[in-house]
Formats: sequence, structure tokens, C-alpha cells
Amino acid sequence: LLTSSRTHEDFLQCLTLHSEKDKPISNIIYTPSNSSYSSALNSYVRNTRFSTPSTPKPEVIVTPLGVSHIQETLYCAQKHRIQVRVRSGGHDYEGLSFVSPKPFVILDMINLRNISIDVENNTAWVQSGATLGELYYWIANKSRTLGFPAGVCQTIGVGGHFSGGGYGTLLRKYGLAADNVLDAHLIDVKGRFLDRKSMGEDLFWAIGGGGGASFGVIVSWKIKLVPVPANVTVFTVRKGLEQNATKILHRWQYVAPNIDRDLFIRVILTGSGSVQYGNRSVQASFNSIYLGGKDKLIPLMQKSFPELGLVSEDCTEMSWIQSILYFAGFQNGQSLDVLLNRSLTINSYKAKSDYVRQPILEAALEGIWPSFFEKEAQSSVIILNPYGGRMSEISESAIPFPHRAGNIYKIQYLVYWSEEGTAATESHVSWIRRLYAYMAPYVSNSPREAYINYRDLDIGENNEGNTSYRQASIWGTKYFKNNFKRLVFVKTAIDPSNFFRNEQSIPPLSF
Ligand code: FDA
Repeated sequence: LLTSSRTHEDFLQCLTLHSEKDKPISNIIYTPSNSSYSSALNSYVRNTRFSTPSTPKPEVIVTPLGVSHIQETLYCAQKHRIQVRVRSGGHDYEGLSFVSPKPFVILDMINLRNISIDVENNTAWVQSGATLGELYYWIANKSRTLGFPAGVCQTIGVGGHFSGGGYGTLLRKYGLAADNVLDAHLIDVKGRFLDRKSMGEDLFWAIGGGGGASFGVIVSWKIKLVPVPANVTVFTVRKGLEQNATKILHRWQYVAPNIDRDLFIRVILTGSGSVQYGNRSVQASFNSIYLGGKDKLIPLMQKSFPELGLVSEDCTEMSWIQSILYFAGFQNGQSLDVLLNRSLTINSYKAKSDYVRQPILEAALEGIWPSFFEKEAQSSVIILNPYGGRMSEISESAIPFPHRAGNIYKIQYLVYWSEEGTAATESHVSWIRRLYAYMAPYVSNSPREAYINYRDLDIGENNEGNTSYRQASIWGTKYFKNNFKRLVFVKTAIDPSNFFRNEQSIPPLSF
């Protein structure tokens, strides 16, 4: 404890000494002795699994107002050997942006959230502490026919999201957020402020899908905005097992990845009824957006997916920005201001991901349903996101995210719980691991691919000290396939001493 408090004092003294006179650092620092430390820490913890009394807490939270504050924090942290975790929106599934086993500082990007939209050139500069909701809001404020292909939850931070790929309902039409990044500003381990030109194409490539946390601090992104029609159509059609949900889901696997790229139909599988009262069943919700009107959608669905039985009454036409609210679970007609709301509390949860390359047989789908009847599954969900369209055209090595042609859809498994304590955590985590084990024969293998933005430490982690290429490639090839190698080369060039590290950061080669 003594060592840790000395480190923390030395670090703070260093920051005070090195901060610019006109930008004093003292009012952007939180230490455990500040009354606002807990709220500064917890407002951006999105998974209560990582806010227990035994969760390691940061020595200091720094909320920079500009580039110099980031540079000073990196300098002093290196000088006093304290780790830095960078947090933008705090949605990391394993809490890596705000928890570390070693003494650490959180560099929280919350104050760096400017967004400037250039409608003439269809581009925008977004600082990494901005949320997706803010980005969508300000795009819509300037134009109702421009959008951006990123995630569906409005509180996600662009800092982590774009650097891990970032997908949403436009992915079949325009690919991932990271496919639409044009430039970036980054501070490296030496404190240099770099843009795409000065960082070079290798580093620019690495931070757009390889996870920013291994390479430096991303300050902002320049993105390409994409055209969206003035009117889109949304629907959600729910089917229970007694309404042929399994058969329709089986058919969906052939349709959703191959249909017109203007149509995105994801499936949300949930348990319905109560485990406790023994009336549990399974529901498949076909949740969709079409980039056009009902008049075109209905004949398209009748031709390609008649099994779903979509009718005009199921469909609602709205602006693209309203569809963002629809997918985020808000009522139609809700004010767009909800997109600016940054609060989000989620119970404890654990998630995992898989990629599917061949349609899964009906009998194997049926084998999933009993998982929903177990007591740990009361609050659980499986989300199937179709690929195809633009996703299949982009090469596996264009950005570090490699899950392209050949993958028909991605699965996300989630389990939530509100009970406290390790027993509850263990039983829910072991439920999701059993489900994941059941799925093994039906999903990608060698490697069993996974999505880095759905961080999962079960698939492998680094040692606390040095980690070999071989050991890190256990998890690295699952997230990045062959791109892992290039990420290691970039890391070795930019951060050979491995200052920017976490449980799943890219290791440098040691010579
Ligand atoms: P956070 O701040 O926790 O950062 C995540 C990682 O990036 C950490 O390793 C962190 O250190 C690093 N990082 C953050 N900012 C950085 C910076 N400025 N420079 C360098 N490194 C930085 N995904 C998706 O693709 N589509 C979706 O629809 C959703 N939906 C969704 C809903 C909900 C409720 C959650 C909790 C998560 C999602 N996600 C998602 C996953 C999400 O994309 C993923 O967790 C992102 O990494 C979150 O980015 P944040 O900045 O919010 O997280």
C-alpha cells in the first residue's frame, strides 16, 4: 500500500510540475480523497461486475481538456511506472478501460467530445470521448440524408468502438465504422501528436480495428458520412416456438446474408415466461431496417422470405435518425434529445461471440433451446447479426478486423444477473461457457473467430509480465486471424517497451 500511495504522490507531483501554466491540471484530477472520485469512476462503468468493493480502483483519474494534458499524463506515468488505462465510453465487456491488476491511472476522455460535421464534403471530425448518440444527433442536426454505420447503443464511446471495428444496422450496406475512418489523431508513447500522414499507413491501419489501447491514445477520428434515404422502414416480428420459430430461423440463415444489402434483419433470441414457474419458452424477434419504403420492402420479403409472413401493418416508415431510436429501444416520436443522454446502468453481465460459416441444422438449433430453461438464463439473450453485402467485398486484411466473406452471421451470447457475490458470477459465467461449448461444432474453428469489441478474456490473455508472440496469438488470431502478425510488427515499431498494455493488448516482439 505504501509503495502504491508513494507512486500516486510522485505521479501527481510530476503532473503538477509539468502542466502548462495556462492549463493547470489540478482541476481535472480525481483521487480517492476527492468527494467526486466515486462518481467520476462509476458514471462510466457499464457493467456492475466491475464495480464491487474488491474491484481494483485507479490511483488517479485524469480527465484531459486538451492534448497537452494527455502528453503530460503519459510522460509522468512512464516516469513513475504507473499503468495507464484509456477510457472513452467505458463499454469494454471485461472492464479493461478502467480496471487493472497493477497500480494504474485512468485517462478518461470524457471532456474531449467535440464533433464537427462537414456536410459539403460528407465528413466529420469526432473526438474520442463523444458517444455514438451525440454523433448521430449532430449528423441529423445538419442533414436527414446522411448517416454513419456504427453501433446501436447510443452511450458507446467512439474511442473504443471505432478502434475495434464497430458495426450497426448499416453494416451490410456500408461495412463497419472502422471501414469508414479517413484520418485520426493519436498521441504515441513518446508524446508525439500524430495524424494519418505522420503516423504512417501501418499504424493508421492498426488503430482502425486492432484495438486502440495497444498503440497510443486516440484523440479524434475523421470519418466519411454515408448517404441514407429520407425514409427507411423498420419492423420487429416475434415468433414463438409454437409459431415455427425454429424453422423460420433456420430459413433466415439462408436469406439474411444474401438478400438485398439495403435490408438488415437481425434475430434476437430470448427466453419468455419464467424459469421459476416452469412456463419458460423461447422467442425469436426478427428486428429489421430497410433502406427504402414499405412499397418495395413487402414484395421483396414476399419473394425472398415468405416464411416470416411480413405484412404492411408490421412496418413503420421513419427517418434514419428515428430508426436509431427504434433500435435503441425508444418509442417512435421520442425527442432526439435522448441521444444526448449519457447515463446507462447495466447489471452484471458476461458476453461471448462466434462466427457462423455454414447454416446450422434445425436439430442443432433445437439443441440451444434447453439452455434458456436453466435458472441462470432468466435474463439472457442471443443476438444473430447477418453479414454479406458490403462485408463480403472488403478484403480480410483491409483493416485488422478479418471476419469478412465466408461468414454468414455473427452470434453474440449475453447473460445478465443482479445478484451480488462471486457465487452468482460463477454460476452465470459457467452457464454461458456451457452454451459456448455446445455451439463449438456449428461455428468457425481453427481459429474459432471472435469480435474484439465483444471482449472475452476466456479466449486467452497475456501474462502480467512479458507475453510471447505464441501465447498472445492464442487470443490474437481469434480476433484478427492473419492480421495479428502485422499488428505485432506495428506494436514493436511504435511501443517496443510495451507501455500501453492490458490483458489482451498486442505484445511487441522482444529481441
Ligand atoms: P471503453 O472506453 O471501455 O474502451 C474500450 C477499449 O478501447 C479499451 O481497451 C480502451 O482502453 C480502449 N480505448 C478507449 N478509448 C480509447 C482511446 N481514445 N484511445 C485508445 N484506446 C482507447 N459494438 C458494436 O460493434 N455494435 C454494437 O451495436 C454494440 N452495442 C453495444 C451495446 C452495449 C450496451 C455495450 C456495453 C457494448 C456494445 N458494443 C457494440 C461493444 C462496443 O463497441 C465496445 O465495447 C467498444 O469497445 C466500446 O467503446 P467505448 O469507448 O465505449 O469503451
